[in-house]
Amino acid sequence: MDLVICPSSPTLGKKIAEILNLRIANVQYKRFPDSELYVRAESDEKSHLVVGSVCSNEDVVLLNLLFDALKGEIIAIIPYMGYARQDREFLKGEAVSIRVLAKMLEERADRVLTVNIHSIKAKESFKRLTDLDAMPLIGNHFKGRDIVMVSPDKGSAERVKNAAKVANCEWDWLEKKRIDAQTVEITPKNLDVAGKQVVIVDDIISTGGTVVEATKKLYELGAKKVETACVHAVLAEFAPIKLFSAGIADITATDTIEKIYSRISVAELLAKEVKGVLE
Ligand code: R5P
Repeated sequence: MDLVICPSSPTLGKKIAEILNLRIANVQYKRFPDSELYVRAESDEKSHLVVGSVCSNEDVVLLNLLFDALKGEIIAIIPYMGYARQDREFLKGEAVSIRVLAKMLEERADRVLTVNIHSIKAKESFKRLTDLDAMPLIGNHFKGRDIVMVSPDKGSAERVKNAAKVANCEWDWLEKKRIDAQTVEITPKNLDVAGKQVVIVDDIISTGGTVVEATKKLYELGAKKVETACVHAVLAEFAPIKLFSAGIADITATDTIEKIYSRISVAELLAKEVKGVLE
């Protein structure tokens, strides 16, 4: 088996290769002048561990091209599985995007591994998917600090509870109402955060709207300092600027999406799972 690194996850891919002592396959990625992508995989191995998050439309095309180029068995590690938020037909006639991605990936991959895929519903679109939880890693990162972890909504409360358990700190949640893809409303709820340092913990920070609204609420409630941590730092549409302008003191994320905020690695978590699969 060798390890194939996709352009979306170079550092994480290398870390996993080192832990598992796998050779990194020689793959050429090129772009034609008309912007079409090209992939050539020089590998004679009978099985491959492909590592690459789906952060963009190009990542989907690249994975498809790679799957065509590689021969033999494939275990696909997709640390951040984009398109998972469109996990159902919210409005009549909508495509269920994750269903399309699942079909595409499982047509070629024998196993798919993800980290904190958006929902149970998204996971159910797959037949052979293992989803791993990075929340304990976030908890471990904050261990020993005098903080309160806050989930911006009830939906994420269970995840935040897992992180807080490892961090050995207090935790709570806010009530969120989503108005549209860019707008959320945090409804009044009293939390005991006056004078405390708070870390807003979420699975994804996308536009940053959720964290911004939660931050406003927490400062209103008297929080001394608010920072944020997430598994997937999508950070679209100038999100870091929005977060810092709202008073967020720091952003901490895992490396499912490689950003300068990626201070926690999911490499060991994923490598351990792969070892289990291969044994
Ligand atoms: C929602 O269910 C997720 O847990 C996140 O809260 C959401 O995806 C964050 O999106 P945004 O950063 O655009 O508010």
